[in-house]
Amino acid sequence: MSVQWHEFPSKDDLDAALAAKIAAVLNAAIAERGVASFAVSGGRTPAGMFKALSEQDVAWDKVYATLVDERWVPVEHADSNERTVRQHLLTGAASAIRFVSPVCEAPTPHAGEAEIEARLAAMPQPFDVLILGMGDDGHTASLFPGAAELEHACASTTLVAAVTPPVAPHRRITLTLPTIARARAVIVHITGTGKKALLHTALGEQKAVTEQYPIRRVLDAAAGQKHVFWAD
Ligand code: 6PG
Repeated sequence: MSVQWHEFPSKDDLDAALAAKIAAVLNAAIAERGVASFAVSGGRTPAGMFKALSEQDVAWDKVYATLVDERWVPVEHADSNERTVRQHLLTGAASAIRFVSPVCEAPTPHAGEAEIEARLAAMPQPFDVLILGMGDDGHTASLFPGAAELEHACASTTLVAAVTPPVAPHRRITLTLPTIARARAVIVHITGTGKKALLHTALGEQKAVTEQYPIRRVLDAAAGQKHVFWAD
C-alpha cells in the first residue's frame, strides 16, 4: 500500500497546506470535468482547516460537498458535524458550495437511509477527494471497531449506511467502505503523537493487530491516491 505522509511543524501549517491541497484537487476536477465533489469529516480536528479552505480561490459554485459521516442530532446540536461545516466552511465565497446534507427529518438513520442515499446519488461520483479523520480507537468515518453493522457498512453496495457505534452519539450515518474506496483521493487528517503512533500501528505488518482498525481496511481498499496530513 502506498500512502504519502505530509508532516507539519504546527496545526496552522497543517491547516494551510491541507486547504491548499484540497483546493488544488477541486480546481483540477473543475478544469477536467466542470464540477468537483468532496466529503469532509466532523469531530474537532477540521474546524481550522475548514476556515483556511473557505479562503481558497475555487469556483465554489461548481463544487458539491457532503460529510463522510454524521451523528443523528439536530443541526443546532453541539455534536452535529454539519454545524461545524456551516460555521467554518460554508462562509464567504465558499457559501456557494452545493452542500448536500446527510441528515433528514426521519427519526433514525435507518429510517432516513433511502432518502440520504438518493441525495448523495445526485452528487458527482466518485468523490474527487475525501477528508477522513481518525478516532483514538482507529475508527474512521463512522466505521467503528465492534459496531454491529461494521461488516454491512464495509460490504454494502449502497453509498451510505446507518450505524449504531459503541460510543455516543449512538445513531449515525456513514459513507460505506466501498464508497470511500472509489474516491479519486483520500486524505487522512490527524493531529497529535497518539494518533500518529496509532496510525503507524494500524498500517503495520501484524495482521492480527491491524485488522482491528477500520482505518486500515479503508486504506487497503482505497483505489485512488492516499495521503496522511499530520501535525502534533
Ligand atoms: C465523527 C467523525 C469521526 C472523526 C473522528 C476524529 O463524526 O465522529 O467524522 O470519524 O473524524 O472521530 O474526531 P476528532 O477530530 O474529534 O478527534
